[in-house]
Amino acid sequence: MSNSTQPKYRAKIVGAGSYVPPDILTNADLEKIVDTSDEWILTRTGIKERHICTREMSGVDMAAHACRAAIEKANWKAEDVEMIIVATVTPDYRLPSNSCMLQERLGLVNAGTMDVAAACAGYIHGQSIASAYIESGQYQKILVIGVEKLSTITNYKDRGTCILFGDAAGAVALERTTDDTGVLASFLKSDGRLGKLLWIPVGGTHSPYSEAHEAGDIDNGEDCLNMVGSEVFKHAVRQMGDAALKVIEMAGMTTSDVDMVVPHQANIRIIDALRKRLGLPEEKVYVNIDRFGNTSSASVPLALDEALTTKKINAGDNVLMLAFGGGLTWGASLVRM
Ligand SMILES: CC(C)(COP(=O)(O)OP(=O)(O)OC[C@H]1O[C@@H](n2cnc3c(N)ncnc32)[C@H](O)[C@@H]1OP(=O)(O)O)[C@@H](O)C(=O)NCCC(=O)NCCS
Repeated sequence: MSNSTQPKYRAKIVGAGSYVPPDILTNADLEKIVDTSDEWILTRTGIKERHICTREMSGVDMAAHACRAAIEKANWKAEDVEMIIVATVTPDYRLPSNSCMLQERLGLVNAGTMDVAAACAGYIHGQSIASAYIESGQYQKILVIGVEKLSTITNYKDRGTCILFGDAAGAVALERTTDDTGVLASFLKSDGRLGKLLWIPVGGTHSPYSEAHEAGDIDNGEDCLNMVGSEVFKHAVRQMGDAALKVIEMAGMTTSDVDMVVPHQANIRIIDALRKRLGLPEEKVYVNIDRFGNTSSASVPLALDEALTTKKINAGDNVLMLAFGGGLTWGASLVRM
């Protein structure tokens, strides 16, 4: 956890990139698969469509596109990158990690690597780790990536979850600065007691696929995201709101100092409840859930990249990032661009 005392170095966002696969799954498509309607999905979640990978496209493929864009905008060379932090719960393989595969794919030969598993809050966790590394003086240039191929862990027979999720990657280049920009405050928190509100029962070492397959659990969607949506909803609103107020205070600011909020795009009603709690107008909260759905750890960097590209976020802006996910995990970060 960083605090408002002035560190010698800060981690400044110097580039961002994102990628979504071309294929789109609309609400009308979902109406043909499960008992739902465009009207229900739109009013209960704010989602109109989401992008879905083909079988051939992997998370590392998507992340590579996003990283190339971030590295180019940062004006870095491949060999400049000192650490690659990938947030994902849908890695291509259990071994090697997505971050190692990205290193090889992009020729980031001087980098260390790590994958972080904090579900939808993964990017905020990765950015917080990167910021601490840079503040400590250990590294100067770090890539943080959020990438998910959620379509592979979505049960398209369960209307309570399959309407929500999409595939995407977002990447952010963080670089040492000595000015008053960069990550000003970060806060991370979890409550492992609530892990089974959003979990994947099968596929880990506790319940390997082969055993589960024999028991018929895979047919029941046990190898996919299982969620108690209404409970997750309540925790998300409460915890992201508390985390937001915490980082604003840690940065020595008030909500009126926030120029833009980039929240995890899980449900428009969660985002609206947060906005109201923070007393912010609609134009200060970036929303793209209608086009991408919930892309888990890719959600915040994807939204950030869009907001930067469309100049909704500009140099000097104070940006509040918020995320919440399975674990349960959550976090917030206040960044001056
Ligand atoms: C999943 C979510 C959209 C469901 O919305 P909700 O308003 O909580 O709905 P509920 O789960 O209470 O279900 C209400 C009714 O809608 C029905 N329903 C659920 N999904 C439906 C769908 N896709 N289409 C039509 N009806 C649906 C339920 O069966 C239930 O019917 P019933 O009252 O006859 O039993 C919402 O809970 C949510 O977004 N939760 C947080 C999700 C999240 O953020 N997850 C990831 C964390 S990062």
